[in-house]
Amino acid sequence: MSKHIPVMLHEAINALDIISNGFYIDCTFGRGGHSKEILKKLNDDGRLLALDKDLEAVKEGETIKDKRFEIVHASFKDLKDILKKKNFQKPNGILMDLGISSPQIDEAERGFSFQLDSKLDMRMNQSQKLTASDIINNYDYDELVKLLYSYGEEKFAKKIVKAIIKYREEKGKILRTIELADLVNKAIPKFDSKKNPATQTFQALRIKVNEELLEIEEVLPAAFEALKKNGRLAVISFHSLEDRIIKNFIKDRLNTDKVPKKIPIFQKQIKSPPIRIIQKLQTPSKSEVLKNKRSRSAKLRVIEKISEER
Ligand SMILES: C[S@@+](CC[C@H](N)C(=O)[O-])C[C@H]1O[C@@H](n2cnc3c(N)ncnc32)[C@H](O)[C@@H]1O
Repeated sequence: MSKHIPVMLHEAINALDIISNGFYIDCTFGRGGHSKEILKKLNDDGRLLALDKDLEAVKEGETIKDKRFEIVHASFKDLKDILKKKNFQKPNGILMDLGISSPQIDEAERGFSFQLDSKLDMRMNQSQKLTASDIINNYDYDELVKLLYSYGEEKFAKKIVKAIIKYREEKGKILRTIELADLVNKAIPKFDSKKNPATQTFQALRIKVNEELLEIEEVLPAAFEALKKNGRLAVISFHSLEDRIIKNFIKDRLNTDKVPKKIPIFQKQIKSPPIRIIQKLQTPSKSEVLKNKRSRSAKLRVIEKISEER
């Protein structure tokens, strides 16, 4: 089975500035690369809660026999409810390492890869009903074009969707990953020899099947609210659509002092932002990218909660 190499492991863990008896949450356990490093930094009173919506990830997490550790099969969008239901204290730090793990991409039957023949699945959560195949075969022209533009940033969306609709009319349902990848490859010009033309289409489908962007939008305010004062939130993202949401979330919380110019106002009347940026955007080192190509698009942003407001 394919292994997952944790991305920006030390940068993310250092940025969390772990307190040995603190409570931490790893929202994206994966294969536990970051979780295991957090556990190393905790003493007997420390605790780590991990979440993942993938049953295989949870199965792996359940092999960690450590009384300080618990894993829950859940989406991080439900973070608030999980903390409330379990009566957990406020966390000192929360980590999110977004996207998919190497086993998810490399195991053909998960249907994420355009290079491996499989059913068009792409569900991170195997107990969910909606698959990529449902979308590709049931969405109409306009819905598919919108999806490829917005979640795939695919400039040839219309050409691809025309080919999909034609294929559906002439040959029936598109059920296999390779079938879809071939169809996209034939529908659009190939400019970049290193990039498969189906990359953006597969990205759009994956994001939609798993509602990846909506869930990030939901979890960020919930994570911020949950954190203790001086608690830290570290997020590793892998493409611009994810990073844009995180950047805007931070910007929004920094802009509490927007006072129109020339309005007389006392300094103390200006609300100070409830967060501070721990470090500017970090990307993986050259040597990490050389060792692990999948880390190449990673971006790490870290903030600290300095007040309860907002
Ligand atoms: C990049 S991997 C994490 C790898 C992990 N940090 C490690 O080092 O092993 C992302 C993981 O997050 C999970 N995931 C993605 N979105 C999620 C969500 N909304 N809720 C819970 N888990 C999610 C995926 O199933 C995947 O296992």
